[in-house]
Amino acid sequence: MSQRLTADLIVTGAAQLVTMAKSERVPRIGPELRELSIVRDGSFAVANGRIIAVGSRDHVFAAVSASAQTRKLDVAGGVIIPGFVDCHTHTVFAEYRLDEYEWRVAGTPYAEIAARGGGIAKSVEHLRATPQSTLLERTRQRVYSAIRHGTTTIEIKSGYGLSLEHELKQLRVVRQLRDELPIQVVATFLGAHAIPPEARSDREGYVQALIHEMIPAVAAEGLAEFNDVFCEVGAFSREETERILRSGQRAGLKARIHADELTDTGGAELAATVGAVSADHLKKTNDQGIDRMAKAGVFGVLLPGTSFGLPSLDFAPALKMVEAGVRLALASDFNPGSSTSESMPMMTSIACSHMRLSPAEALSMATYNPAFVLGRENEVGSIEIGKRADFLVLDGQDYREVMNHFGVNPVARVFVSGREWDRTERHRE
Ligand code: NIG
Ligand code: FE
Repeated sequence: MSQRLTADLIVTGAAQLVTMAKSERVPRIGPELRELSIVRDGSFAVANGRIIAVGSRDHVFAAVSASAQTRKLDVAGGVIIPGFVDCHTHTVFAEYRLDEYEWRVAGTPYAEIAARGGGIAKSVEHLRATPQSTLLERTRQRVYSAIRHGTTTIEIKSGYGLSLEHELKQLRVVRQLRDELPIQVVATFLGAHAIPPEARSDREGYVQALIHEMIPAVAAEGLAEFNDVFCEVGAFSREETERILRSGQRAGLKARIHADELTDTGGAELAATVGAVSADHLKKTNDQGIDRMAKAGVFGVLLPGTSFGLPSLDFAPALKMVEAGVRLALASDFNPGSSTSESMPMMTSIACSHMRLSPAEALSMATYNPAFVLGRENEVGSIEIGKRADFLVLDGQDYREVMNHFGVNPVARVFVSGREWDRTERHRE
């Protein structure tokens, strides 16, 4: 007889246990996005931070053994879902751009805000003037808040330093949080977020610095897994984007693109051409771009909080992409100037009301699928044997309340690797 593992934790009583389990470890596409693998009156067991059994209560109690130390958690008719995987954020910033917020809601176009010295350049100014220790503390509080809203894996980009010194400063903040927090923290180098003010008369000089100094330094220190470029009119051209991404790939950094956000620059097609992991934003992507992404298996990362926050009613054509079989994920794009929210529940809600995704599609795109974007599909994203026990106990009896009941936090309890996150956590020093 096979030996039964002893559980550290056994969870029972979930009216809906949304496991997101799938028979093959591949992303959900098309109609599969609606299949959540919900176990009614579900149960699961955890040992050493990993899931060791999932199913009905009887199944789980037969599959594992309990000891005097085994903790029992009865969620008494509640809902359990996997922790959110937020695969696109800019969480290391100095401060919000609140004056611009007033201008944005009053309808001032982005170009005019930039002409007033606002936009990314303003955040670069703020960040360069902020010491690493202050940035670390502010970023840590934001990540704590994201965790309270159910994020248990987070990707964080640099991109407000735009010089070797200040990009490294941002990425070292990310590394510190990766080392101290129990959640998964994944770093992306976004030195190609904008041309820095001092290089405006020599943009090629900055591209050369990215390729020959900054990317090699980031790779040598192991500070990032991904290399991202903002491919946009006024930021980086397709040709520059391709060179920067290919040099990152040679240094071992996987490629991602901020693509077709404000204009159709062919960013989605470029993502397919260079073999990028994802193309993100995609508000203006044309049909050919959608087709190329579907065929090449490039993930489309949709960021509804950015449209909402700008504010605009211009959203990525999500349903068309679902129909085309594109691999899709949702993320917060949390940043100081456009998507100013770290709440993944809010993102799923906006995705339903404005992109017309179903609640099930939105949940698949916020948990299971983004784990693949980050290369963490064997670790997180679903409640399946072998994965980390990252899960959320929700208020209410139905997962659709996450989207329907917007603007409040539906997450009652957060567990990371089987241990409950202390909601009062604010300072660790
Ligand atoms: O992903 N689009 C480019 N960059 C960010 C916004 C950065 C900012 O406004 O500070 C984004 O939305
Ligand atoms: Fe972004």
